Amino acid sequence: METNQNERKKVIFSAIQPSGTITLGNYLGALKNWIDLQDDYDCIFALADLHAITVRQVPANFRHNTLEAYALLLACGIDPKKSPFFIQSQVPTHAQLAWVLNCYTQFGELQRMTQFKDKSAKHADNVNAGLFTYPSLMAADILLYQADLVPVGSDQKQHMELTRNIAERFNGIYGSVFKVPDAYIPKKGARIMSLQDPSRKMSKSDENVNGYVAVLDKPEVIMKKFKRAITDNDACVRYAEGKDGINNLMGIYSCVTGKSFEQIEKDFDGKGYGDFKTAVGEAVAEHLRPIQERYNEYIKNKDYLEKCYTQGAETAYRISVRTLTKAMKKVGFVPRAHNKSRLTNIINCQIFTHKKAETLKCVSTFLLCIL
Ligand code: TRP
Repeated sequence: METNQNERKKVIFSAIQPSGTITLGNYLGALKNWIDLQDDYDCIFALADLHAITVRQVPANFRHNTLEAYALLLACGIDPKKSPFFIQSQVPTHAQLAWVLNCYTQFGELQRMTQFKDKSAKHADNVNAGLFTYPSLMAADILLYQADLVPVGSDQKQHMELTRNIAERFNGIYGSVFKVPDAYIPKKGARIMSLQDPSRKMSKSDENVNGYVAVLDKPEVIMKKFKRAITDNDACVRYAEGKDGINNLMGIYSCVTGKSFEQIEKDFDGKGYGDFKTAVGEAVAEHLRPIQERYNEYIKNKDYLEKCYTQGAETAYRISVRTLTKAMKKVGFVPRAHNKSRLTNIINCQIFTHKKAETLKCVSTFLLCIL
């Protein structure tokens, strides 16, 4: 895409929760699109770990899952040189703006969110205030970066509508502070359904592990899961209403091979479901192989991971603090006196880059030596 020097690329923001296994559904439905968007847009990506604690997490698993997700997303192709990629809890502006936006979000609006209704039914013993105000944190994530477009699955459409309403409401009171973002629902790709119940979305919380394929599943596990996939009695590989299982497998096969549905129907003309399932399994395993190899490299390299997420957080902070400061000023908070404030220095220290922290360590060791 040719861009004029003065013409700015559109800004894309998206995030995913680092809670547990990342599935083929997450990858084909969301992550693969993120990767493809990186050249044509200014992308910023995050792991929404603050959102993840709206359900109870076991600390060690939570930490492990977050690092695993970070390494896996790098392995999938997020390029931190092109797209700042950070961990939400490391950028304090998110929680700060979320509080402000909470005060511009109505109780009734939050109560209407279907995800809140579903999740509070599912976790009836822990219907916490964070679960309720989850959408205003999500709005803060997006509005901080003045995002034009937000790639999300259809389950997040209602949260996007609310984000737009909050932005418009705030702008209506204070003038133009936030860019009002649009949801970006890619044409291609893919709502990947459970292999065991193709009427439901593929989900890591499926009680039946054969329902989902994890991006890190071993090839033999992938083959086994596809061989067990639910199909129908028609015994003909074609896309048609009522053939949810086969339609889903065709969607997956098409995503990983680039083949059209017509082509797939032609290739499997006269062949049985057994052959088709084997072909889908092999194609998926082959597609995931290089991702798994890269993942195994990254996850061993803690220094590299640390450097990436620290730089990501610093860039994200630098961009987002401008929006936060503007919004807070409009509301009427007394601005901090930047040059004189020790607090500013402390906050800046907290988000110090790796490099600066390192330098500081050297300087203090040196001082200790000469004193
Ligand atoms: N709520 C999103 C999900 O569960 C994750 C998310 C958090 C997000 N903040 C966001 C998505 C901002 C897009 C933009 O899928």
